[in-house]
Amino acid sequence: METQQIAQLDKRLLDFINEWKGKKGKEIMILHKVQEIYGFLLRALAMEVSRLIDLPLAKIYGIITFYHIFKLKKPGKYQISVCMGTACYLKGGNDIISELENILGIGVNCVTEDGKFSVEVVRCVGCCGLAPVMIIHGKTYGNLKKGDLPKILGEYGESVLLDKENHV
Ligand code: FES
Repeated sequence: METQQIAQLDKRLLDFINEWKGKKGKEIMILHKVQEIYGFLLRALAMEVSRLIDLPLAKIYGIITFYHIFKLKKPGKYQISVCMGTACYLKGGNDIISELENILGIGVNCVTEDGKFSVEVVRCVGCCGLAPVMIIHGKTYGNLKKGDLPKILGEYGESVLLDKENHV
């Protein structure tokens, strides 16, 4: 399986690795590129990057786990990004995360069993006037209250969420 994925390594990634190979900061730039192309950092890809830029796999994983932006698991079909920049944090970003956990049954950096939703925390997304803010699949929701969440998540067609609507 991993061999297959390596054999199919995206040409854009190979070109990018060749361009960055000898440059300072190559590790971060290349890992960003892997994530941009594949959506997350599959182990086989981390191994291949390690081989191609001649950096131990342990160092690659050190970088991946240090920077929270890197994902080791495939994100859900709908990625929920909750802003925890200062304004959003002060206006209740934590409540949003807790309520998402109540409704979806998953914490930050986790994916629902059906693969539909995943939750991540992000830094300021640039619309602090709307704090607290979350983004789902590229759509921004602002001035959030936890009671808004069942309806918003219902937009993504989750019948279980509709059952839980009365519960909030
Ligand atoms: S802090 Fe959340 S949008 Fe700026």
